[in-house]
Parts: sequence; C-alpha cells; structure tokens
Amino acid sequence: MRQAGRSLPEYRKAREGVAMLDSCLRPELAAEITLQPVRRHKVDAGIFFSDIVVPLKLAGVGVEIAPGVGPVLENPVRTRADFGRLGELTPDSLQPIVDAVKLSVAELGSTPLIGFGGAPFTVASYLIEGGPSKTLPVCRAMMKDDPALWHDILDWTAGITAGFIRAQVEAGASALQLFDSWAGRLGLDDYLEYAAPHSRKVMTALSDLPVSRVHFGVQTGPLLKAMYEVGATVMGVDYETPLDEANRILGGNVPLQGNINPDFLSGPWDALAAHVADVLERGKVAPAHVVNLGHGVPPETDPDVITKMVALVHGEI
Ligand code: CP3
Repeated sequence: MRQAGRSLPEYRKAREGVAMLDSCLRPELAAEITLQPVRRHKVDAGIFFSDIVVPLKLAGVGVEIAPGVGPVLENPVRTRADFGRLGELTPDSLQPIVDAVKLSVAELGSTPLIGFGGAPFTVASYLIEGGPSKTLPVCRAMMKDDPALWHDILDWTAGITAGFIRAQVEAGASALQLFDSWAGRLGLDDYLEYAAPHSRKVMTALSDLPVSRVHFGVQTGPLLKAMYEVGATVMGVDYETPLDEANRILGGNVPLQGNINPDFLSGPWDALAAHVADVLERGKVAPAHVVNLGHGVPPETDPDVITKMVALVHGEI
C-alpha cells in the first residue's frame, strides 16, 4: 500500500535530496525503492514505486508532492479553457516507467510485481481541487453546474491512467490495482453518475491484459458492489468492512484483498496478532484473500513490526 517505504530508513536515505515525483522518473532509483520492502519484509509481491499523479506529470501537468501534504497542482483544472490545455501521454513520456518496471521485474525474479494507477475520480479530485481536500467543494460544484466539463475531465483522466497502467503491465507487472481512494466520499448515486463510468473506461481499456484487476477505495462499504461492477476481478477492502461482510455484499464469488487495520501496527503486538488472526479467519469465507493492509503504512511505523507480521501470516512464528 501507499507509503510502505516511508517507514524504512533505507527509503529515506535513497530519497535524500530527491523530490518524490522526480524519484519516480529515475528508473534505477524507482526500482531500488520498489525492491526495498520486498527484501526486508519478505512479502510475496512488490508494489511498483510510483504515484497516482505521475501520469499527470508525464502529460505535462504541473504537479508536485508536498511532504506531509500530498499532491499539489500548479494550476488546478477548473474551466473549459484549462481543460483545453491538457496534453496526452506519449510512448516517450512513459519510457521512464517502462524502464523502472523492467528493472524491478528483473530484480524481483519469481516475486510478482503489482502495477497500479489512480481511478479517474480520485486523480481528478486533485487535478480540480488543486490539492488534497476532504470535502471536495470545487468538484461537487462542477458536477452540478457543468457536468459536461466534469465528464470531459474525468474521461481525459481515464485515458492517461489507463495508459500508465498498461505500460506497467506490458513491461512485466503481474497484476494491476486501480486506487479509487476517495470514492467513499461520494454517496452511491453520485458515485454511479459521476465516477463509475470513468473507472469502467479504465477497466475496459485494460481488460485484454492477462492479469487480475484489483480495485480499492477507503470507506467504500456501501460502494463495494458498484465498484466491483466497473470491471474489477478482485476487490480491495479497507479496514472498516470486515471481510465476511464484504464477501456477503459481493455475493460470495469475488476474491478479496487487504483489510488489516494499519492502526494496530503501532499498538501492542498481541493485539495486532489477534487482529490479523481475525482478518484471516473472516477472509476464509471468500473464494480467496490476498493478505494486505486495509490502507497505507503510517510513516512512523516500526518496520520490524511489519516484518514480524509478515512472518506471522506466513505461519513462521
Ligand atoms: O508504498 C509505496 O511506495 C507504493 C507506491 C505508491 C505510492 N503512492 C508512493 C508514495 C502507491 C501505490 C501510491 C498510491 C497513492 N498516492 C494513492 C492511492 C492509494 C492510497 O493510499 O489511498 C494516493 C491517494 C496517492 C496520493 C498521495 N501521494 C498522497 C495522499 C501522498 C501522501 C503525502 C504525505 O506525505 O502525507 C503521497 C505521497 C507518496 N506516494 C509517498 C509515497 C512513498 C510518500 C512520499 C514521501 O513523503 O516520501
């Protein structure tokens, strides 16, 4: 999950003096950071080191990641004229991603790499608001006042996200994950009208690729089924919906991923171990459960706790 590396001293050292998005576009560095958590924690798969806003940058949008804040846009896209200035991804612009994936896959050997991108709603929420926002006032106003512009911006975003993910899979990633982290901020009706059609465009554009399509958002219990129906083949579940409940909502035939509450990483070991056991037990009712956290790794996490948790899940302790 996001920021897995941030709790690692070797990550902080590798990133010294390099801006977040610049580090994503240096293939050797991105591959090294991709490998770090795999080497240390002995997890069963790596997640490509990148960010959901990287394709915006590659398409020429002025965006940076401000430490402790998140993605910040130089010029938010809020008018028809702003929209008209958006560029496209080219094979050349995607080359650093392709190179970084190839290096990562070569080093990972038999360990699979998960590629990913952001769903149009979550990426466009940064593009339109200009930065992180819990309430999304500009987005909500645009949905109602200028739905045509809203849909055009999300349609464009779907195209660049799909291109970004396709490049990763074609370069060797073994699964893809579409993050609609902030979808849970929409009610079901708004999700279906303003977000789902564009996520469906991404999933449809990638459906010819021979890999699983994982879909994840936070606080998405009420949206799980609708999110699955955009074309996912595996559903990521945050830590608020128990897996047996998620399995029930989804009808009992969808593999699940995630669900461990990252808050337990900083608490007593016994509580974490009991929580993990509960998650594993509930996950058994689903056709499959890919064990993972239900959201990002908090940066202050003691990395040894994660290593120990992985050993516990592997049945080694
Ligand atoms: O853990 C990993 O390194 C995996 C790669 C990864 C990153 N971002 C690297 C990153 C992944 C899968 C993401 C996805 C991502 N990025 C999402 C969707 C998943 C989720 O967590 O919901 C979102 C919403 C973003 C946007 C974003 N990027 C945020 C909100 C932040 C946090 C800003 C902060 O400092 O609090 C980032 C930065 C980011 N992306 C970091 C990493 C390793 C931290 C950069 C740093 O400070 O070193």
